[in-house]
Amino acid sequence: MINVAIIGYGIVGNGVAYILENQKNLLKEKANCEINLYKVFTRNWNKNFPYPLKDEKKVYSLEEIIRDKNVHIVVEVAGGIDFPYKVITEAIKNGKHVVTANKALLAEKGKDVFELASQKNIRIGFEAAVAGGIPIIKALREGLIANNIKKVYGILNGTTNYILTAMESQGKSFKQALKEAQEKGYAEADPTLDINGTDAAHKISILASLSFGGFLNFSEVYVEGIENIDTLDIELGKELGYTLKLLAIAKSHEKDVEVRVHPTFLRSDHPLSKVSGVFNAVMVEGDNVGEVMLQGRGAGSLPTASAVVSDIVNIAKSIQIGIGQEIEVTSINWKHKDLNLTKAKDFFTRYYIRFTVPDITGILAKIASVFASYNISIAAVIQKEKVVKLQKESSQHIVPLVILTHTASENSIQQAIREIVRNKLCLKKPIIIRVEDEEEI
Ligand code: HSE
Repeated sequence: MINVAIIGYGIVGNGVAYILENQKNLLKEKANCEINLYKVFTRNWNKNFPYPLKDEKKVYSLEEIIRDKNVHIVVEVAGGIDFPYKVITEAIKNGKHVVTANKALLAEKGKDVFELASQKNIRIGFEAAVAGGIPIIKALREGLIANNIKKVYGILNGTTNYILTAMESQGKSFKQALKEAQEKGYAEADPTLDINGTDAAHKISILASLSFGGFLNFSEVYVEGIENIDTLDIELGKELGYTLKLLAIAKSHEKDVEVRVHPTFLRSDHPLSKVSGVFNAVMVEGDNVGEVMLQGRGAGSLPTASAVVSDIVNIAKSIQIGIGQEIEVTSINWKHKDLNLTKAKDFFTRYYIRFTVPDITGILAKIASVFASYNISIAAVIQKEKVVKLQKESSQHIVPLVILTHTASENSIQQAIREIVRNKLCLKKPIIIRVEDEEEI
């Protein structure tokens, strides 16, 4: 019998307990041994839980789990960074295998955790840390092992995808859609981490580490969220044949890697454009396999718990074979080396830029000439005849002017925009949305 202790009894913890107790027989058959929900720790038991536990399973101090020799696997689903770091490192030092859904911890302190686990011959399962129920970690470690991965990208945050989908297709406000995502249990305890792109950045950093074989410095990842997205841009993008997604992108270059998260226009016929609501999807490009796409629920109690339980079963099987004796596929890609991140402004992509300009002769030509001076080639222009706003104090008309560029460097775009603003060719800070629509350059 394998004893499992859960630390943190929130949405995911409840889902894990539910599956362990309600699918006991199925799991026994698959793991070839009984998997027992042994103890659960949470800070406050005086709440209503979706899956209430019998009193004998509840513990009131962490020590009751960490020091208990009967605990084989500790499941950390508490969230945050400092507390789980302490819990996980203590568990490892006490010889317990760990399953965690904690992407923040792994992206920011994964190197320490994996090095300690490797010294102590301990297994760390983290399938649930990226894209909820989608088995992308196992796909990268096992199914795609025969490939050099050049690129991995996708929609890795359910909350923001839910919001963008609701804004686009149902005309819901940002606030209303966020509230719904929170009610459904998709959002982080602090939804700022969803909205500002940090959650997706944590997840893509983990995928980049696995795909490209090494650890990276999370603080160097380029991150931008959806907090400033206006439905006007979603509509104008649609006219150009694009759909807006919060995309997480990791690419491998000869000497370095590029990891970034930002709102991104994708061609509306791109498979990721069809991924809506809470669904996540990941595309992997391997040199032998070509493109592989995995799609599924990226958040929510049971989908995330499904990934946690898959790690529990895997570790339970490893324990039976003898840790270190089993065919160790799990550490192949975690080489303990550091990846060199391309500087945030060094990447190349296409750009959608919306200027708010006065409707006067020659404005477009002046903006275009700044672009030309930075070697930025314009692919399309939309200028709406419709007046968006009329300034009260003057009769000046204000119109949105959208420029779609060919592939350009982030650096040259930022410089050109600064010059346009400095020369007062636009009335407000321009809106910049990157466009992932690869073209031959
Ligand atoms: N808050 C996350 C999301 C949940 O919305 O995708 C799982 O990480």
